[in-house]
Amino acid sequence: MEKRGSFGSKIGVILASAGSAVGLGNIWRFPTEVGRNGGAAFIFVYLLFVFLLAMPVMICEFVVGRRSRANTVGAYRVLAPGKPWVVAGYMGVIAGVLILSFYSVVAGWTLHYTVDSFRYALASGQDFGAVFSQFVSHPWKPLAFQLAFLLMTHYVVARGVESGIERFSKAMMPLLLFIILLLTCCSLSMPGAREGLTYLLRPDFTKVTSDVVLSAMGQAFFSLSVGVGCLATYASYFSRETRLVNSAFSVCVIDSLVAILAGFIIFPAVFSVGGVEVDAGPGLVYITLPNVFNTAFSGMPVLGYAFSCLFYVLLLLAALTSTISMHEIATAFIRENFGLSRRLSAVVVTLLCIVLGFACSLSFGPWRDVKLLGLGFFDLFDFLTAKYIMPLGGLMITCFVGWFLDRQLVEDELTNGGALRVRSLRLLLFLIRWVAPVGVAIVFFNQLISD
Ligand code: PHE
Repeated sequence: MEKRGSFGSKIGVILASAGSAVGLGNIWRFPTEVGRNGGAAFIFVYLLFVFLLAMPVMICEFVVGRRSRANTVGAYRVLAPGKPWVVAGYMGVIAGVLILSFYSVVAGWTLHYTVDSFRYALASGQDFGAVFSQFVSHPWKPLAFQLAFLLMTHYVVARGVESGIERFSKAMMPLLLFIILLLTCCSLSMPGAREGLTYLLRPDFTKVTSDVVLSAMGQAFFSLSVGVGCLATYASYFSRETRLVNSAFSVCVIDSLVAILAGFIIFPAVFSVGGVEVDAGPGLVYITLPNVFNTAFSGMPVLGYAFSCLFYVLLLLAALTSTISMHEIATAFIRENFGLSRRLSAVVVTLLCIVLGFACSLSFGPWRDVKLLGLGFFDLFDFLTAKYIMPLGGLMITCFVGWFLDRQLVEDELTNGGALRVRSLRLLLFLIRWVAPVGVAIVFFNQLISD
C-alpha cells in the first residue's frame, strides 16, 4: 500500500484544520442564526459551547487520530481492539458522506453565484427571490454546478495529504482571511453601518429559549467540524511535535473570529441599505445580499461588482476547504480498510456523493415530494447528522478518551510525551471527562424528548 501521508509543517496543520472548520457554517449559517436568535445573546451562548464543549471534543479527536495514525474506523481498532467503540468510527464515515452530499448542494449554488457575479449577471432590477428559487428548482442546472464543485474537491483530495490538502489550505486560507478583513472594513465604512452593528451586538436574552440553546450547540459542533472524526483523520497526519492543545485552541479562535466577522460584513451592509429583512433565513446570502450589493453601491457599480465577486469567492473557498476534509474521512477509511490506492478510494467517495448529493439537490425541485421520515433528502441528511450523529459522536469520543483510554496515554499525547508543559492540563481533563460529555448528553437527550 502507498505510504501514509503527513502534514509537513506546523502552520499547515493549523491552516488545514481551520480550513475544515471555517466554512458555509460560519459565513452562511452563523449570521442567519444570530439574526434570528437574539444577536449578541446567541453569540455569547455559542462561544460558551465552543470553548467548553466543542473544543474538548476536538482535542479528543486529535488524541485519537495522532495516537492511532489511522482513519476513524482503524483508530478505534488500534486503540480498542475487539471493542464496540468502532461503531463511532463507522458513524463518522457515514456522516462525512451524508454531510458532503447536502453541503455540496449549497456549495454548488455558491459556485453558480460566483460565476454570475463575475459575469455581471447579478445586476440590479431583478427579483432575486424569484431568480434564486428558479435556479435551485431547475431540473439540471444546480446539479451541474454541484458536480463541478465535487470534482474540485475530488481533485485536491486525490492529490494526497501534503501536496493536495496541505498545499491547498496553505494557499487558500490566508487569501480567505484577507478577503474577510477587506470586506469587513468595507462593510463597516458604509453609511448606516452602525445600526447593523448595534443589531448584531445588542444582546436580547429573551430570545434565548431552550430551542435556541440547542441550535447554538448544533452550530458549534457543525462549525468546528467535530463529532464525525474529520479532525481525527487530519490528526492522524500530524507529526509527533504538533502541539495538540495549542492547535485546537487556535482553530477554535480562528473559526469563531471568522463567524463573528461574517456577521460584521453582512449586518452593517444589510442595514445600510434598509428595508430588507435581516432574519431572512437561508436566503440571506443568495437573495438579500445581491440586493444589498446593488443598492449600496448604486452610485459606484464597480465597487458593488468587486464586493460581490469577492464575497462569493470567499464563500466558495470556505466551502471547498471544508468539503475536502469531509471527503478525506471516507477516502482514508476506504484506502486503509480495503487497501485501495488513494486515487481509487477518492473516486469511490466522489461517485457516492454525486449520487446522494444529486438526490439532495433534486429535493428542491423535481423531487420535492419525495419524502423519507417526512423530510426531503437535503433536510433528512442535515437533520440526521446535525441532530444525531454529531452530538452522539462527540459524546462517544469524549467518553472514550476521558474514561476508556489509559490516562497516562492521554497525558502523553497532550504534553508530547512530557516535553510540553500544559498549564491547563487538569482543567482540560476535567472538561473532557465531565463537562463535555454531561453537557452534550443533557442537550442531546433534551432534544430527543422535545422532538
Ligand atoms: N465546519 C464546516 C463549516 O462550518 C462544516 C463541516 C462539518 C466540515 C463537518 C467537516 C465536517 O462549514
